Amino acid sequence: MLQRRLNEQAAKEQALRRPTADPFTQPEEEAASPAVAQRPAAPAAAPQRAAALEKRAALPGKLVQMRKMLRPKLLKTPDEADHWNRDDADKIQIITERLTQMVTKLANERPEFRLSQAEFAQLREALLDDLLGFGAIQPLVEDTSVKEIMVNGPAHIWAEKKGLYETEFTYDDEDHLIWTAQRIVRRMGRRVDRAHPMTDARLPDGSRVHIVTAPSALNGTTITIRKFPAKPLTVEDLISFGSLTRETAQFLEACVKSRLNIVVSGGTGSGKTTLLNVLSAYIPEDERIVTVEDAAELQLKQPHVVRLETAPPMPDGDGKIGMLTIRDLVRGSLRMRPDRIVIGECRGGEALDMLQAMNTGHDGSLTTVHANNPRDTITRLETLVLMSGMDLPIGVVRRQIVSAVDMIVQIARLKDHSRKIIQITEVQGMEGEQVTLQDIFIYRQPGSNSMTPLSVGGGVLESTGFRPSFIDRLEENGFRLSSRIFGSGQTRFVKN
Ligand SMILES: Nc1ncnc2c1ncn2[C@@H]1O[C@H](COP(=O)(O)OP(=O)(O)OP(=O)(O)O)[C@@H](O)[C@H]1O
Ligand SMILES: [Mg+2]
Repeated sequence: MLQRRLNEQAAKEQALRRPTADPFTQPEEEAASPAVAQRPAAPAAAPQRAAALEKRAALPGKLVQMRKMLRPKLLKTPDEADHWNRDDADKIQIITERLTQMVTKLANERPEFRLSQAEFAQLREALLDDLLGFGAIQPLVEDTSVKEIMVNGPAHIWAEKKGLYETEFTYDDEDHLIWTAQRIVRRMGRRVDRAHPMTDARLPDGSRVHIVTAPSALNGTTITIRKFPAKPLTVEDLISFGSLTRETAQFLEACVKSRLNIVVSGGTGSGKTTLLNVLSAYIPEDERIVTVEDAAELQLKQPHVVRLETAPPMPDGDGKIGMLTIRDLVRGSLRMRPDRIVIGECRGGEALDMLQAMNTGHDGSLTTVHANNPRDTITRLETLVLMSGMDLPIGVVRRQIVSAVDMIVQIARLKDHSRKIIQITEVQGMEGEQVTLQDIFIYRQPGSNSMTPLSVGGGVLESTGFRPSFIDRLEENGFRLSSRIFGSGQTRFVKN
C-alpha cells in the first residue's frame, strides 16, 4: 500500500519534471481528469500562442473563479514577479509548475474544479498574463499595431490602431484590474491606492502609463497606456501620411538648422511629441543637446545628447523629497553648457525659464505646448509664465514671448483621424499690446484663400504668400529660397 503510494508520488514528480507535452495539442477527453494538470507546459509556439490569445477574451465562470482564487497563491510574496516578463520561459515554467500542483490538489479536493486539458491551458495563459504581464489587456500589449490602450474600468477596454475602437477584452472585476494596476507601477517604485489615487509611470520599454483609481475614477480603475514606438516616426513617414509636404519639411529643416526657436502646438494626442522628435532630428550632430521631459519619449540619434527626465517624490517621503520638476531640470540644464534645449512639453512655470533661455543665447530651442491654434499658444504661454509665481505685468510677459519664440507649428488630429500640420505661423512682433502673428503655411482646400485651417481631411498645406521676416537668417545659413517659395500655393526649397 505504502509502496503503491510512493510509486504514484514518484510518477507524479516525474510528470512534473517531464519536459512538457504541449497542453494545447492534447485531445480534450484525454485530459478530463485532474491528471491533466500534471503536465507543466513549455511556452507555446507562436501559432498556438496566437490561438490562445484569441480564446482569452471570454473565460468561463469556473475559470474566472479559479483565476481569482489562485492568482495570489501562485507567488511566494506579492511582489515576487514584479520584474518577471511575460516572455521569460524560465518564469513561465515556474508558474506552470506551481499551478499544476495547485490545480491537481484542488481537483482532488473539489471535483467541481476539475479541468479539461483545454481549460487548464486557458487558465494557465490567463494567470501568466496576470502574474507576468498586464492581465486582460496582454493581447493588446503584444499587438504591435496597437498604439494606445485605454481601460475604463473592468468592463470597457478601448484601443487605438488606425482609429479608436472598443475591444472584446475585459477584466474579471475591479479587484483583477487594480491588481494589474499595482503590478504595473510597483516595479517603477510607484503606488496606486487610496493614498496615491493617480499615478504616472514609464514602463521599462519607454511606454507611458497613467492610472487613476478610487475614489476619483468613477467607472473603476482607469489605465491609459501610450506605447513607445519601437521605431519612431520619421519625417519620411509623416510626409507619406500626408501630415506635411516635402517642401514644408525642407522649410522646417532650414528653420531648425538656422536656430529658430520653435514651439510645436497641438491638442492631446495630436502628434506634438512625434513632430518634436522629427524636428530635433534636424539639429546638427556637432551640437550639445539637452532634452528635458516629464516621461522620456524623445529618441534623438545625435551623439551628444543629455537626456533628463523628471523624478517623482520618494514613495515614503514627505511628498517632496527626491522630486525634480521640469522647471528644476530646465534651470539645471542651463548650467550644462547646452547648444540646444529641447523641452518635451511646457505646462507650468518652466515656460518662463525656457523663454529666458531662448532670449539669452540658447537659440534653436524647441518645445511643445498644449493649445488649439497659434493665438491660443501665445495665451497659453502667458498663463504658464504667470504660473511661475513671478509677478510680471502682462505686457512684459508678452514681450518676452515675442522676442523668444520665432515660429509656432500647429498640429492637429483631424475629423478623419489623420494627424496633420495645419498652420506654420511666424511670431512677428507687437502692435501696441497685441502680439502679431502671421501664417506662412496653412492647411486648406487646394486653391482656396481661406485663412482658417480645415479641420477635416482633404486639404493641402499651402504657402500663404507671406515671406517670413526671418528669411535672411535662413539665407545666412545657406538656405537659398526660390523667389516662388512664399508665392501662394506651391513651395520650392534649395540648399546651397
Ligand atoms: N503625423 C502622424 N501621423 C500618424 N500618426 C501619428 C502622427 N504623429 C503622431 N502619431 C501617432 O499618434 C500618437 C500620439 O502621438 P504623440 O505622442 O506624438 O502625440 P502628443 O500630441 O505628444 O500626445 P500627448 O498630448 O499625449 O503628449 C502616437 O501613437 C503616434 O505614433
Ligand atoms: Mg506628447
